[in-house]
Amino acid sequence: MLADVLDLSDAAVSSGLLVQLPLARRALARLWYDRRFGVNTADFATLTDLGLEHPERVYYSPAHWGTLRRALPARDVGEHDVFLDLGAGKGRMMLEAASGYAFKRVIGVELSPELTEVTRRNLAATRLRLRARDVEVVQSDVLDYDIPDDVSVVFLNNPFRGEIFASAVERLLASAGRAPRPITMIYFNPVEEPHLLQTGRFQHVRTVVPRWRKVEGIYGTTRVYKVT
Ligand SMILES: C[S@@+](CC[C@H](N)C(=O)[O-])C[C@H]1O[C@@H](n2cnc3c(N)ncnc32)[C@H](O)[C@@H]1O
Repeated sequence: MLADVLDLSDAAVSSGLLVQLPLARRALARLWYDRRFGVNTADFATLTDLGLEHPERVYYSPAHWGTLRRALPARDVGEHDVFLDLGAGKGRMMLEAASGYAFKRVIGVELSPELTEVTRRNLAATRLRLRARDVEVVQSDVLDYDIPDDVSVVFLNNPFRGEIFASAVERLLASAGRAPRPITMIYFNPVEEPHLLQTGRFQHVRTVVPRWRKVEGIYGTTRVYKVT
């Protein structure tokens, strides 16, 4: 029965995969949160399946539930703050931001029309109580999206790399230049951190490493920066 829930093959079961309890526990936890919150965010989606393959774009895999809570204390967010998830996927971090904080507005930007639609359904169906009144997912390539000048917390879960990442950072800094304000960036799986630091405009504030990790690495880690 556990194998059914986890969608494991007979080969996986007989080769002893099921006895790897930490793995099974994490897989179960992922499904359990979705069930509990009445949403569908757990299943990965490749960009080939979505017809959006590009070497610098990253496929859909959600950040862990609790990523935002561990990186951003609720006391740091006030009623004028605006949250933006660049590459919002199925909206898991939008749900965390809208339910766990006093954000005035929560925005997600997602390239895939299918994933945008899943996010809309998740926002409409969730059993989580959304505190933010204004919650919106925009279907757009980040390259075509102008970052609103009141955004104060930007979340990225390694959504794109290379030139696309550089261009998104440029857009964020342009917004900070038009409307100077405190801006926090939360970067999960911070693959492009060297580029970020090279700009000289991002000051590292803290690093959050998951409890199950023995050694700090890029994947599973969250880094928080202030835009200077
Ligand atoms: C690793 S997933 C992160 C999903 C979500 N932020 C989360 O943590 O649950 C990356 C997402 O970025 C989206 N993405 C990739 N390239 C993009 C682009 N150029 N513009 C907007 N979204 C993009 C993908 O479709 C995918 O849903």
